[in-house]
Amino acid sequence: MVLDGTKTINSEGHLEIGGCDTVKLAEQFGTPLYVFDEAVIRRNARALRESFAAHLPRSEVIYAGKSFLTTAMCKIVEQEGLGLDVVSGGELYTALKAGFPPERVYFHGNNKSEDEIRLALKAGVGRLVVDNFLELEMLREAARSLKTRARVLLRITPGIEAHTHDYVRTGQIDSKFGFTLSNGQALAAVRQAAAAPELHLMGLHCHIGSQIFEVEPFAVAARVMIGFMGEVKEEAGKILRELDLGGGFGITYTHGDRPPELSRYAAAIARAVTEACQETGLPVPKIMVEPGRSITGPAGTTLYTIGSIKEIPGVRTYLAVDGGMGDNPRTALYGAKYEAVVANKADLEPDRVVSVAGKCCESGDMLIWDVCLADPRPGDILAVFCTGAYNYSMASNYNRLPRPAAVLVNEGEADLILERESYEDLVSHDRIPGRLQGEESKAERAVL
Ligand code: LLP
Repeated sequence: MVLDGTKTINSEGHLEIGGCDTVKLAEQFGTPLYVFDEAVIRRNARALRESFAAHLPRSEVIYAGKSFLTTAMCKIVEQEGLGLDVVSGGELYTALKAGFPPERVYFHGNNKSEDEIRLALKAGVGRLVVDNFLELEMLREAARSLKTRARVLLRITPGIEAHTHDYVRTGQIDSKFGFTLSNGQALAAVRQAAAAPELHLMGLHCHIGSQIFEVEPFAVAARVMIGFMGEVKEEAGKILRELDLGGGFGITYTHGDRPPELSRYAAAIARAVTEACQETGLPVPKIMVEPGRSITGPAGTTLYTIGSIKEIPGVRTYLAVDGGMGDNPRTALYGAKYEAVVANKADLEPDRVVSVAGKCCESGDMLIWDVCLADPRPGDILAVFCTGAYNYSMASNYNRLPRPAAVLVNEGEADLILERESYEDLVSHDRIPGRLQGEESKAERAVL
């Protein structure tokens, strides 16, 4: 077991996070429970901010809210001096509710609605990241009617697709996002945006993938984008001052994962940017990055109560917990891998290989295939690690399971940052039409 962050084992043999006994957390707040280690969130945010500042003084780290966003999280992001990337009216609303400075908000999305665009303009968000030609038009229209000028980045598809361990550069790009670089769309978009009096074109954006374990794809993306900025200068006579290279830095989910240290991404990006700018004769733009997973992923642990254990001799042992794909759909969706420990037996040697199943009515509802645990029994608490990113944010009420609570732990204190949903919450948006309640129908009323 990797005891990273503030994880320790106390004298009772219980797993502790942020100075809090996880078994007590489970008792106090119930399970499933998302536990967020504040020190780890802050440590990661700082490591990124400091390493980018060291290599590129004019840089900004923008937290990707899609990985985990609540109003308390917005407060931490604000305090750590990061920007905030939001991708929907709902995420923007969360930021505004938390009092997050709107000028530090970057608003993304490949199909923003008119309402979302207006909400963003009225709030005064820092940048809108424009994805397509329809949005350019909608944004101009909205800015005109609100008598404002929108500061924009254009999302470009640079033709680099990076996966965990490899990346490909293709001329042909198949992506729903952004203006394609290779077919002239990107340049056309730059021309349109630069010519629009309602818009202030600040720069460009790209995002090449997520959970990327190498620094080279980011360097390649930086070179391609700066090459394009050179083309923009030549062809459209415009010098762009900002370049946002998106998120995607990899993290360790299981012991086999070996992502580079966070500072190595900054170093590689800085080098590529500086070299490419020298070659193209451009001033070094302000560089932005948008990490999500690398800030919140390792900070999250989910606590479950172990229930039934089904042994199929010679085949597999299924250990069911009181959550599953509702609070963590990543195993079912992506084949994600996790490590876990029996929190109340954290001092014991793991001796039994089991597969952790959820409680949803679906065979694919698995959390971990094959994990070695110490004497797991019904009633024990299972802690699944590295569940801070894209778990709560992708959680659902499948099977009408209420979504779990989340607590923020730090130096022995545990504070609720998300209340557990109740059964009442589940039905609170349901409506029963009158005609199903025995009320007379319109036709009947007409006859009377
Ligand atoms: N910026 C943009 C434009 C993005 O699309 C993303 C992630 C990020 C930043 C943040 O990427 P990160 O640093 O977190 O890798 N649900 C999937 C991940 C989807 C990522 C989507 N975009 C998962 O659970 O793995």
